[in-house]
Amino acid sequence: MGKLIIDGGERISGDIRVQGAKNAVLPILAATVMADGTSVLENCPKLRDVDKTDLVLERLGCRVIRSGNTVTVDTRGMCDCRICEDLMREMRSSIVFLGAIITRCGKAVVSMPGGCPIGLRPIDLHLKALSELGVDIQEEHGYIKCSASKIHGADIHLDFPSVGATENAMLAAVCADGVTTISNAAREPEIIDLSIFLNSMGAQIHGAGGNVIAIRGVDKLHGARHTIMPDRIVAATYLAASAATGGDICLRGVNPRDMDAMLYVLREMGVRLRCEKDKIIQTAPERLKSVHTIRTMPYPGFPTDIQSPFVALASIARGTTVFVENIFENRFQNVDELIRMGADIKTEGRTAVVRGVKELQGANVVARELRGGASLVVAALAANGTTSLSGVELIDRGYENIEKYLLECGAKIRRE
Ligand code: UD1
Repeated sequence: MGKLIIDGGERISGDIRVQGAKNAVLPILAATVMADGTSVLENCPKLRDVDKTDLVLERLGCRVIRSGNTVTVDTRGMCDCRICEDLMREMRSSIVFLGAIITRCGKAVVSMPGGCPIGLRPIDLHLKALSELGVDIQEEHGYIKCSASKIHGADIHLDFPSVGATENAMLAAVCADGVTTISNAAREPEIIDLSIFLNSMGAQIHGAGGNVIAIRGVDKLHGARHTIMPDRIVAATYLAASAATGGDICLRGVNPRDMDAMLYVLREMGVRLRCEKDKIIQTAPERLKSVHTIRTMPYPGFPTDIQSPFVALASIARGTTVFVENIFENRFQNVDELIRMGADIKTEGRTAVVRGVKELQGANVVARELRGGASLVVAALAANGTTSLSGVELIDRGYENIEKYLLECGAKIRRE
């Protein structure tokens, strides 16, 4: 297992150009299989999860070529409709291939998904939506076998605005016979990015980003060119890293309008922010202030994915912050490690009470999942002394060259 060695206490100040969004690129890569042709995706981050998705595409018979941050997917040789267990176990988001492969092949076989151990993460909403579109679903020996001679439009209501279920329903509905509506749809910006890509492939999707998405089925799709949206969670992580160390930072290539809830909390914690069209400039105070309560919610609420890095921030703020995690039930796994670094945090169920301490201390800590790992990086940068953070490959699932960007901004960080 790789390690990051971080000598804390240096201000994180400088310029970072923020990578493309992991949570946008994964469903968009899956969507490429729906056309018999070539798609070109720009601003694709170099991440472990993207490499794994490329591998899924190659195993399906597609040709994937990366040149810098541009990925070209040629799906003309696609000859398989199955995703095997090893890949599904590693990456839960592979489940969105289900809707895409059914659209292309009329059938799909995937193993039950894995992913970060942050909670139960069932897929009942995905399967219910597909079944309403006319897909026959059999679950056997840990595999999900789907087939549909004809997919028809349907009125789908999601009990919860699940991001993945919304994406799967969109992918399965774009070539359906008739009109589909998805109500109580997820409204995350990544859903809009997927709809822009699908529409440039020839789909007719309206209302993405709102509660109700309407999809008029089309006969076929063609390959398309698309630039992946900026990663709002990575952007907020760098803001947190700089805020934790009292630094000044400028993020470029971002979309501040997608980050309202996170920027609101940062302002409440005492940072000064100036937002331009694709830029955020932040100046942090010597010491942050606590905020009363932070509740994670579906977009446009405060994102669950940034909860852990903000727990690290709150752990050194003046005063007490209460976090309520409403999306995933097991998302405080980083807390024990923060406590090893001197944080004062009590968790009970979905709540964490974080009493800010004056200073954290460097320690040997372990990343157990992606965003929890990022929170330990934030804590280590602010801490007094050296932190040895293992499990760094989990951080690589979502952060491109994290140590390179932080080094350029003044961090004392190296990978071993
Ligand atoms: C996506 C993001 C993830 C983010 C999450 C919430 C990707 C690749 N991942 O994950 O980073 O943390 O959105 O913003 O985009 N649920 C069900 N049944 C289902 C589906 C979901 O009960 O069929 C529940 C989940 O257990 C969870 C909640 O709904 O409690 C939200 O999950 P969902 O929005 O589906 O998250 P993902 O798409 O897995």
